[in-house]
Amino acid sequence: MLEVKDLNAFYGPVQVLHGVNLSVAASEIVALVGANAAGKSTLMFTLAGLRTTHTGSILLDGEPIGDFPAYERVPRGLVLVPERRRLFPFMNVIENLEIGAYSAAARPVARDTLDEVFQLLPVLAERRKQVAGSLSGGEQQMLAIGRALMAKPRVLLLDEPTEGLAPIYVKLLFDLIVNLRRSGLTVLIVEQNVHHVLRTADRAYVLENGRIVLQGQGESLLKDERLKVAYLGL
Ligand SMILES: Nc1ncnc2c1ncn2[C@@H]1O[C@H](COP(=O)(O)OP(=O)(O)OP(=O)(O)O)[C@@H](O)[C@H]1O
Ligand SMILES: [Mg+2]
Repeated sequence: MLEVKDLNAFYGPVQVLHGVNLSVAASEIVALVGANAAGKSTLMFTLAGLRTTHTGSILLDGEPIGDFPAYERVPRGLVLVPERRRLFPFMNVIENLEIGAYSAAARPVARDTLDEVFQLLPVLAERRKQVAGSLSGGEQQMLAIGRALMAKPRVLLLDEPTEGLAPIYVKLLFDLIVNLRRSGLTVLIVEQNVHHVLRTADRAYVLENGRIVLQGQGESLLKDERLKVAYLGL
């Protein structure tokens, strides 16, 4: 469904990703793990069409989308939930959600999608009139995901969705991801919470200094000595 071939990504003259190859099949949950500054967010931004320049190809259902601007990737179903949420703090929950449905395809069905999002994330329904800035961290993360769902994604890119969350929210979030996949969504997720994410993901890639150095099934990677040494501190 999503295929990345020989991707190099740059901030101006600075190259951060080097020859990255990666694929995500339909309805798969794929994890991307790696140390701080490995280039995980850079890969997510590059997939979403933000910030970087790149060479190499990004294919969505076989269609090269790497030269499309960000706003043309969203209607095709590729939607990023960036690190640290980036909500509109002075707007309320409903207003933040409505912004997610800006694309021509998502707008006409926004009412129905809103009902679906409220069903999936009841905490948002309860707090629909509250301004986003006064939500708890966990609630804000749910809102960020809810807003992305309003865009009717087919592939959801999640960059550290559990960052700063209490264990109860971490569990809620992983449950939500599994639910979303059950409803047909494809997920690429960056996580520092390596144990949890490798147990949830079908497959995972390990990024080190902008290069994929390991890949495999989630559970079996957990047992990989190299991963243990580098990321789990064992
Ligand atoms: N706008 C930018 N200009 C120049 N360099 C940048 C820019 N954004 C990020 N970088 C650099 O790119 C490298 C990779 O950063 P990136 O944010 O992709 O890492 P990450 O794997 O997401 O790390 P973390 O786990 O801390 O979120 C870092 O060395 C970072 O300093
Ligand atoms: Mg990051």
